[in-house]
Amino acid sequence: MAQGIGFGKTILFGEHFVVYGLPAIAAALSDFTEATVVAGTKGLEFIDNRPETPGYKETKKEEIGCQLSALVKHFNLDLEKKPLKITLSGNLVCASGIGASAALAASIARALNEELKLNLSDEEVNQAAFAAECAGSGPASGIDNTCSVYGGFIIFEKNLQGGKNRIEIIKVKKPVEIVLANSGTTQETKKIVADVKALKEKKPKEFEKMFSDYSKLCNSAIQALKKEDWKKVGALMGKNHGLLQKITVSCKELDKMQKIALNAGAFGAKLTGTGRGGLLIALTPGEKLQEKVANALKKAGFACQKTKIGIE
Ligand code: MEV
Repeated sequence: MAQGIGFGKTILFGEHFVVYGLPAIAAALSDFTEATVVAGTKGLEFIDNRPETPGYKETKKEEIGCQLSALVKHFNLDLEKKPLKITLSGNLVCASGIGASAALAASIARALNEELKLNLSDEEVNQAAFAAECAGSGPASGIDNTCSVYGGFIIFEKNLQGGKNRIEIIKVKKPVEIVLANSGTTQETKKIVADVKALKEKKPKEFEKMFSDYSKLCNSAIQALKKEDWKKVGALMGKNHGLLQKITVSCKELDKMQKIALNAGAFGAKLTGTGRGGLLIALTPGEKLQEKVANALKKAGFACQKTKIGIE
């Protein structure tokens, strides 16, 4: 028997922009998915006991199947000769935007590494998880699986030429409180990424300007984060949400949740991950503020999760 974990993640800056080689900032959550691999009786048996927002696993059924096939291929598994049973569990509640598919891939890759005694490095495990991410959700940037494998706070920049990606760890003195609020709907990353690509092809000039605005914003965010200037980080998150609205990946519920969080005192709030549904992240340093923002969102009917980022 072997086990492995993959962290959930939240993107503070740069979802979608990261696909085009711009830097993004992500943080691992303390919540994770755990994979347990044992010898099976026939082929590949897969049991998914992860908690979910209603409908998540059904919506992602095909994606999950593709991820499992990619992992079987990547690890060269001969399931006729050596049948396996994989069981998923853990406290990460699967939802769109929380890196659940990357956590699935990372946890299984880690568990297979143990079970097959391959002694892979973190980066090799990350490559296996990346292969599964791409098979499941189309050409991915790699930010989700990198965060899921490494944990912590990271600056991630995809090398579009195919070389090594930039992965820089930012250390903060003290983890900071956030609220993740759920819009109640799940989206397919592959579809939304394709929609953004089509829009970019239609409006190249607008995207050029937005990319330049985003680059400046992200550089300021990196400086603010390094100084732990949460007020500034929050204000920049709001600006990032504005750019995400422009590329049409926000939606009515996300915009409504953002207003509620800001009115309740959040330092900043924006959609996180794929968008057009999924999750909102609100930056709420201190437990009192976190509680206040979560209560305001709950009162408006949105399910919330209180957690921290910056844990190593
Ligand atoms: C999804 O969590 C983040 C996206 O930028 C897609 C990707 O980076 O692969 C939307």
